[in-house]
Amino acid sequence: MPIDLAQARRDTPATNRFLHFNNAGAALMPTPVLAAQLRHLQLEADTGGYEAAAAANDQMESVYTSIARLLNAAPTEIALVENATVAWDMAFYSVNFAPGDRILTAQAEYASNYIAFLHITRRTGAVIEVVPSDATGELDLEALDRMTDPRTKLIAITHVPTNGGLVNPAAAVGRVARAKNILYLLDACQSVGHMPIDVAEIGCDMLSATGRKYLRGPRGTGFLYVRHAVLDQLDPPFLDLQAATWVAPDRYEIRPDARRFENWERNVAAQLGLGAAVDYALGWGLTDIAARIDALAAELRQRLTDIPGITLRDQGRRPCGIVTFTAETKPARELVAELRHQRINCHASAPGNTLLDSTARRLPDLVRASLHYYNTEDEVARFAAAVAALT
Ligand SMILES: Cc1ncc(COP(=O)(O)O)c(C=O)c1O
Repeated sequence: MPIDLAQARRDTPATNRFLHFNNAGAALMPTPVLAAQLRHLQLEADTGGYEAAAAANDQMESVYTSIARLLNAAPTEIALVENATVAWDMAFYSVNFAPGDRILTAQAEYASNYIAFLHITRRTGAVIEVVPSDATGELDLEALDRMTDPRTKLIAITHVPTNGGLVNPAAAVGRVARAKNILYLLDACQSVGHMPIDVAEIGCDMLSATGRKYLRGPRGTGFLYVRHAVLDQLDPPFLDLQAATWVAPDRYEIRPDARRFENWERNVAAQLGLGAAVDYALGWGLTDIAARIDALAAELRQRLTDIPGITLRDQGRRPCGIVTFTAETKPARELVAELRHQRINCHASAPGNTLLDSTARRLPDLVRASLHYYNTEDEVARFAAAVAALT
């Protein structure tokens, strides 16, 4: 069913007040997401934090069920954590690397992930190898296939990199990983909520995501999916009394499910908000969400192409809702600040966030306009007109 735009905007009252193309930064929360959090905060204030959490126990369990539904996973394969970075780190630092083990990644890998690669290679003697991109900018699948060998311990790539519209071929990578029995960690921070994600179809072993971006959830929320079959190959970098039970003075028992990657203390209100955001997205349907985002982004790319001095910087066969560009006459940060004065939100994306890709493509700061389904064709036209007037 196509998105009911009027309803989506009624559920997002701030859309009347400013133009928000910073959905890959933090999307606007719809009213049910805000309401779920406020309700729980009120309950905490009225009854006490532990008491409120006990009262919300069933709702908290449904958060796992909803995320599992979103990803086509089992609720026991989901861990709730503070953000996508913690989710990714808990998975990555659980892999038992030995000297000479190889980590294969892609050109547009995210800074935090690459920093962790460098950290672990220094600590363990594992090595990082970067799979080149093909002519479209996507990870080159033939090169990936050639580069895998028995020392390849992990394939870790980003599905939708932080800049550049790119959607890496996650499922095709999964087929290589499955065929060669290599662990596969997918950073889906910017694709979850943006497009349909099916972990069975993708074939990843671990997947990390955040709440605040395309899912439209609260800040400070994230989750990790870990496939049942690989749980016991992974050794979490730390354990607490949520991840394990202290059963004797010299012994603990680790949880049998993915919650072994969690820690105990949490923002219950925010996690309930995350659950509401997942339910809200599922209510629209991810196929329809993706179709509308793609159409809006295509229209924006077309309009920007028509403006003299604007260069689009996007890559990939089917670029997603993240539109990046530079202006000949104005640095990205200046343009973003001037747009902000006109109540137009977008973001300046720094080269250091995807250093390998930015260096290879000699990218300066980019203007990143990231669209969501609740944006309108009129906003796309207004954004393009504002860019044309300012450059
Ligand atoms: C590709 C990618 N991965 C991971 C992250 C980190 O997400 P979080 O800030 O929720 O930890 C980001 C954030 O921008 C991102 O773009």
